[in-house]
Amino acid sequence: MTFPFPDALQAIPHRRDVPFARLTTLGVGGLCRWLFEPVSEAQAQAFVRACARAGLSWRMLGGGSNLVVLGDVPLAMRLRLPQEPLRSGLELQASAAYGHIKLSLAAAEMGLAGLEYASGIPGSVGGAMHMNAGAYGRELVDVLARYRFLTPEGELVEKAPEPGEFRYRWSVLGEGRVALGLILRLAEGDPERIRALAADYRRKRGTSQPLRRRNAGCIFKNPPGQSAGRLIDQAGLKGLRVGDAEVSPEHGNFLVNHGGATSAQFAELMALVRTRVLERHGIELEPEVEIWAAGDPITR
Ligand code: EPU
Repeated sequence: MTFPFPDALQAIPHRRDVPFARLTTLGVGGLCRWLFEPVSEAQAQAFVRACARAGLSWRMLGGGSNLVVLGDVPLAMRLRLPQEPLRSGLELQASAAYGHIKLSLAAAEMGLAGLEYASGIPGSVGGAMHMNAGAYGRELVDVLARYRFLTPEGELVEKAPEPGEFRYRWSVLGEGRVALGLILRLAEGDPERIRALAADYRRKRGTSQPLRRRNAGCIFKNPPGQSAGRLIDQAGLKGLRVGDAEVSPEHGNFLVNHGGATSAQFAELMALVRTRVLERHGIELEPEVEIWAAGDPITR
């Protein structure tokens, strides 16, 4: 088969027919038909520019920890930027491809406080920016000094976050921007105490969330003033199963994969949970995870 994309993409590392079962923590989905993995910002920029010029739709993949893929995806990009985090005073610079948990650990080792809440949140730094990841009353934007991204046309921008650009589990990056990296502003701290606080968060998470089974984190957003997990629990849905997909008996807002689940089973289970919570509480739960529908033609 001839290369079906603009020539500019030939030089960017790419793979074919990669199962989303291997690209996501939930472990379901179809195939990523073409997966491009730029190893530099310049390659990422070349990819975005060439796709924009050619009018090609594609999807941005991060660590795959907050994602439910329902079918095959024709074209996706995942960054493989190799840089290690770089400290300058109280600032910490990291690439979007770096692990979010690894970054939290690195900050602790450097005696930089403020990223302890992230010590148990999987995925990439880029994904954490995209979702404005958070836990225990803190979220990424609280420590974000500047961020780097590509516009949908491939222009590189670095700027400070502005009011309204990052909200609860939402950021402006979702509007077609590609996160490339960030600069955090942290505080001086004692590595021992930072590590202890991070360990405490991880312990709390371990007692309330089903971390031993494949999952995609919290499936639904918390409605204002409510906990989706509690609403699901009160509706008696824990343990509800469609095939190998189950509402976790440990935490109602987690769906777990017992090993052989399919994306169709997760889609059915999510729909069932929404219907039952609506019937019981009159509240419509909104997905917190990203959902990539089969054959979905939308760019990102
Ligand atoms: N609860 C129940 N039953 C359940 C689950 C929870 O009664 O099955 C109750 C708990 O007892 C608690 C309250 O609901 O009183 C809140 O539960 P929890 O502390 O587990 O927090 P959450 O609101 O369910 C949020 C975030 C989590 C984050 C935790 C800790 C969302 C959707 N969820 O969960 O984030 O880890 O707080 O800060 O915002 C994620 O983003 O993927 C995620 C898991």
